[in-house]
Order: sequence, then C-alpha cells, then structure tokens
Amino acid sequence: MIRSLLAVAALALVPSLVQAADARRDAILSDYAGQAKKADPAFAGFDAKRGETLFRTKWAKGDERTPSCTSCHTDDPRNPGRNAKTGRPIEPVAVSANAKRFTDRDEVEKQFGRDCKGVLGRECTPIEKGDYITFMAGQ
Ligand code: HEC
Repeated sequence: MIRSLLAVAALALVPSLVQAADARRDAILSDYAGQAKKADPAFAGFDAKRGETLFRTKWAKGDERTPSCTSCHTDDPRNPGRNAKTGRPIEPVAVSANAKRFTDRDEVEKQFGRDCKGVLGRECTPIEKGDYITFMAGQ
C-alpha cells in the first residue's frame, strides 16, 4: 500500500521535474562554468543568492530608465514584466513560470549583452550570468 502510494506520488512529480529541467539550460550553465573557471581557478560553482543580488541591486550605471533588472522584469520574476523603454510586455523570467527560459543559447547571450549594458553599464561576467540563471531556475 505504502509502496503504491509512493509510486503515485513519484509519478505526480514527474511532469513538473521534466518541465523545469532542460538539457539545453544545463549545457549553457556548464559553458559559463567553464568560462568562469578559466577566468578564476578558485571558482567554486554558481550561487542563487548572488544571482538574486544581481537581479535586485539598483546599479543605475546604464540607461537612466532602467536602474535594475527589476525595472523591466519586476520584483517578482514569476510575474510578467514590462519593458521600461518600449512599454512592451515581457513573459515571466522565472523558470517555474516559463519553462522555455534560458534554453536558447543565442537568445540568452544576446539579452545578457543588451540588458547588462543597460543596467550595469558593462558586460556581465560568466559568473554573474551563471548565478542569474541559477537563481531564476529556482524561482
Ligand atoms: C529594458 C528592459 C529590460 C531590463 C532592464 C532587463 N531586461 Fe532582461 N529582457 C528584456 C527583454 C525585452 C527580454 C527579451 C524578451 C523575453 O525574453 O521575454 C529579456 C530577456 C532576458 C534574458 C533572456 C532569457 C531567455 O530565456 O532567453 C536574460 C538572460 C535577461 N533578460 C537578463 C537580464 C538581466 C541580467 C538584467 C539585469 C542586469 C535584465 N535582463 C534587465 C528586457 C529587460
């Protein structure tokens, strides 16, 4: 009885796990990890907490309309956002709310390039990119 209940419980978990995990996202993360290690041999893995700090900090070093990532992606990454420059809607960036997130390498690189310049006034480092994705993957 308990065993069959456990089996049912395990099966019920499968769809959400399949949805959240994605080999393409893992590959992007392991690429950034390789770059991070090259830049700093002491690199010891990505950190969701640092990713959250990157997301919430008011950098105000780029475009004055977008002091932080939250300016467009909102304080809650599970919510839809709005582009503070164009007013256009943006789908949620949290993986739990949008399973397609961080699965297209070119798109991810293009947006990090654009958004980090607009907020931090510089490129994000591979560690920052990996931390950010790690944070969003847990949201
Ligand atoms: C000017 C508004 C704006 C700001 C500020 C902004 N973003 Fe974005 N972001 C967008 C838009 C627009 C997209 C592309 C549309 C989409 O993916 O829904 C996007 C998408 C992304 C993506 C691609 C996600 C994927 O699944 O491919 C990443 C990565 C990203 N943003 C990171 C950041 C980071 C990091 C910051 C803060 C340093 C930030 N964004 C701040 C507007 C913004």
